[in-house]
Order: sequence, then structure tokens, then C-alpha cells
Amino acid sequence: MIYPIVKFGNPVLDKPSEAVTVFDEELQKLIDDMFESMYAAHGVGLAAPQIGIGRRIAVIDVTFKEDPDAKLVLINPEIIHTEGRHTQSEGCLSIPDFRENVTRPNKVTVRAQDVHGKVFQKTAEELLARAFLHETDHLNGKLYISHISALKRDLMKRKIRKLMKAGEW
Ligand code: NI
Repeated sequence: MIYPIVKFGNPVLDKPSEAVTVFDEELQKLIDDMFESMYAAHGVGLAAPQIGIGRRIAVIDVTFKEDPDAKLVLINPEIIHTEGRHTQSEGCLSIPDFRENVTRPNKVTVRAQDVHGKVFQKTAEELLARAFLHETDHLNGKLYISHISALKRDLMKRKIRKLMKAGEW
């Protein structure tokens, strides 16, 4: 099932999500649906609040279907180590048609659970590290625009409000 993507302005994106405690078939189905919804929206990462579900689940595929082994599920993720700095243009499916340069750590270790509840750690750099941070932020009720200057953020919000008024958001 493909879920519609929730956009900026919906309060579900601003709230910390709730921990997953049950690892059952329903969770597996939701994760399958999240991958399907992410690919349909041409994204490389998706967090559950972006489909209106406030649970600590994210799916990532920075290769966009090229490498089946690159598909990653992060349940209850926590960033446990960061190193360095890296600036790159970043976007979000919930803020379509906008991008901004965002400086984030370059090397990141995440600790999370897989679909069976097994705890694992993974260290990544650059794009994948950025995805870990971006998606974990979503589960903490934060969007990437919290990492850009207030000036740029206000400008973006003004543009979005205009789009909302025009019924184009
Ligand atoms: Ni996002």
C-alpha cells in the first residue's frame, strides 16, 4: 500500500515518535509499505511520521533500488557517535521542491533494532550518515530546516505559506 506523504505544516512532523515495542507481522507489513511509499515518492529515506504514523521507524535506500543490500530499516534508532563535518544540499519528501545546504557530521554511528527487534550498530559516512541523521531527526520531531539559518528558514516558511494559501501545498 502506498501512503500519501505528510507535508510540512502537519503537527505529526513536529512530535517525537513513540518507541516500537512489538515486532510482529503488522510491523513487517508497515515497513514494506514504507519502502513502497518512499520509492513511489522518489525518496531515499522515509520516517513513519511522514506517512502520519508517530512510531520510531525509518527506512533508507540511498542507492534507490540499485543495490538490494542497501535497503536499511532503523527501528528505535539512536545516534551514538558522530565525527567531522560535511555540508551538502538536502531535501525532504515532506518539504517538496525545496533544498538547502545543511552542515552535519560526516561520520555517524547509529544503534537501532531490525524488524525482528535485534539490536545492531552501523557506521556510515557522507550520504548514508546524512540519512541516519535526517531520519532520526524526523523521529524526534525535527526537520532539516532546524539546521539552517533562521533567515533562510523564515524565507522558506513564507514561500510555503503562500503555496498553502494558493492551495498548492
Ligand atoms: Ni525528510
